[in-house]
Amino acid sequence: MTLSGKTRVAAVLGWPISHSLSPRLHNYWLKENRIDGVYIPLAVNPDNIANVVKLLPHLGLTGVNLTVPHKEAAMMFVDGVDSLAKRVGAINTIVIAEDGSLQGRNTDVFGFKEALNQNTGTDIIRDGTAVVIGAGGASRAVIVALLDLGAREIRIVNRTSEKAELLAASWGPILRPVLWEERNEALSGASFLVNTTTLGMENMPPLDLTLDALPKNAVVNDIVYRPLLTPLLCAAKERGNSVVDGLWMLLQQGRPGFAAWFGCDPAVTPKLREHVLEMA
Ligand code: ATR
Repeated sequence: MTLSGKTRVAAVLGWPISHSLSPRLHNYWLKENRIDGVYIPLAVNPDNIANVVKLLPHLGLTGVNLTVPHKEAAMMFVDGVDSLAKRVGAINTIVIAEDGSLQGRNTDVFGFKEALNQNTGTDIIRDGTAVVIGAGGASRAVIVALLDLGAREIRIVNRTSEKAELLAASWGPILRPVLWEERNEALSGASFLVNTTTLGMENMPPLDLTLDALPKNAVVNDIVYRPLLTPLLCAAKERGNSVVDGLWMLLQQGRPGFAAWFGCDPAVTPKLREHVLEMA
């Protein structure tokens, strides 16, 4: 790769940033599509996020991704946000227009839907019951996607029940908060189960969930991708449920940003998964 004054530069801002797989993802796409561009990780302390976002137009960057813990805060410092980002309450992508204005977008909703599309399809969501474990930022993007896909009921299970109740109150009666103690029974009659917490991630305890009540034709999804097959997905697979791992969503959410910055919609392929996994 030869960098020049013409090379377009995109970045991911996070704190910490060393574990981010996004540079590996976007630089693969840049090379594959023979684009004169580079994508770099930038460690930005939360105390500095306002200043860094405001500086972006002056640095000549084409755009950035935002990861933990900046997705909500960065929203306050951009010039506009799309309707999906408003519904989720977070942005993970900024497109920098030629006039220097900053457009905030949320591509996690797209990533979640496309991950399903590429694997099991989304028919299981329409008119079905979905169970969502967790009520944080990731959960909100998943809930918006499930609402868009026509879920009839969305059961929100969260350790802190107040957060699940708040989500239900803001989104209406399709959402039903479920007490953490009742999570096993909540799987009864569900066509879809997704974990949006960090439980099951490397160095974290597994999600303590008994799948006995879950119908065998339900699809199980985890947004954790380290390890690729979490204890939840292993247990689901063993009893015959279809599973969708978290790497699909991670890769798919990158597509709209890349397309806006570099003008080409990149592909999520088995080869890309292998390439990104080498580092994961
Ligand atoms: P993110 O933006 O990645 O969703 P977050 O907003 O901090 O991160 O949300 C983390 C989610 O994981 C929350 O639903 C959290 O539950 P609480 O609301 O009770 O904190 C859940 N979570 C994290 N650690 C957990 C644990 N040990 N047991 C149960 N839930 C946990």
